[in-house]
Amino acid sequence: MTNDDAFTRLLEYVETDLSFATSHYNDSYLDRRVSSRMRRTGIETYEAYLEHLRRDPDEQAALLDSMSINVTEFFRNPDVWEGIREVIRTLASRRTGVHVWSAACADGREPYSLSMLAHDDPQIDESAVTVHATDISEGALETARRGVYEESRTVDLAEQLAFLDDDTRYVDRTNGTFRVREAVKSNVTFERHDLINDRPKSGFDLVICRNLFIYIDAEYKQPILETIANSLRPEGYLVIGKAETIPPDLKSTFAVHDGRLRIYRLERDPIRIQ
Ligand SMILES: C[S@@+](CC[C@H](N)C(=O)[O-])C[C@H]1O[C@@H](n2cnc3c(N)ncnc32)[C@H](O)[C@@H]1O
Repeated sequence: MTNDDAFTRLLEYVETDLSFATSHYNDSYLDRRVSSRMRRTGIETYEAYLEHLRRDPDEQAALLDSMSINVTEFFRNPDVWEGIREVIRTLASRRTGVHVWSAACADGREPYSLSMLAHDDPQIDESAVTVHATDISEGALETARRGVYEESRTVDLAEQLAFLDDDTRYVDRTNGTFRVREAVKSNVTFERHDLINDRPKSGFDLVICRNLFIYIDAEYKQPILETIANSLRPEGYLVIGKAETIPPDLKSTFAVHDGRLRIYRLERDPIRIQ
């Protein structure tokens, strides 16, 4: 068997037996994740790794965990959060309720940042802001619902929260453990949602979908953005990741609001999905 065939067999096993849609992700990304597990387990060929995977449920869990990368931060890219602050202020001045969707929210630090921002900004009435947060990964959502985060050698939570003047109003810190306070949690709801296969939602004023497109296969970008467009109210806002772009076919759907910060506004209704 060639190396390519063995890699394909491995991906087929992950797709059918472990129910992880490998076909949605680009091959070089998947190869990096598999190779990293192979290094960790000291296995040198895809064929041998597939055999190991079939026999070891712990390795199956470890591989699935490493494939749905859920790297995130509180207030990731602080300059973008100044842009998000302006958008929420504008929406709050126009409407009585502001509904925000944090799509692909990972372990919850992004939706909690939204809630903290709403509580922190004197121009925003936090009781008017609701945040609905979704992700495909049940594991990530479990952490998100708990709202407890640990500092480590590589994760400086205090620095991430430095966007706020006084983070102790929003998190309870004991040693290296940060617990999101109930007042912040009360604005946020969590739900499992697959942006590729599940239906659009409705009634959102702002959708934040950041750092998913960087590793998803290019062909899924358009359907995901159509799902998001169909979930937004007229003239609703979209924020994508700083290294991400809107595909050419959707440039008339999303007008640029701030190009540098990747903030867009729904220009016209996309084709409605029946
Ligand atoms: C890199 S994280 C981004 C987290 C956060 N938005 C941020 O920018 O910090 C990507 C997240 O996308 C989620 N994800 C991957 N495929 C998805 C899909 N089809 N639908 C919804 N979420 C997905 C992963 O589970 C992961 O938590």
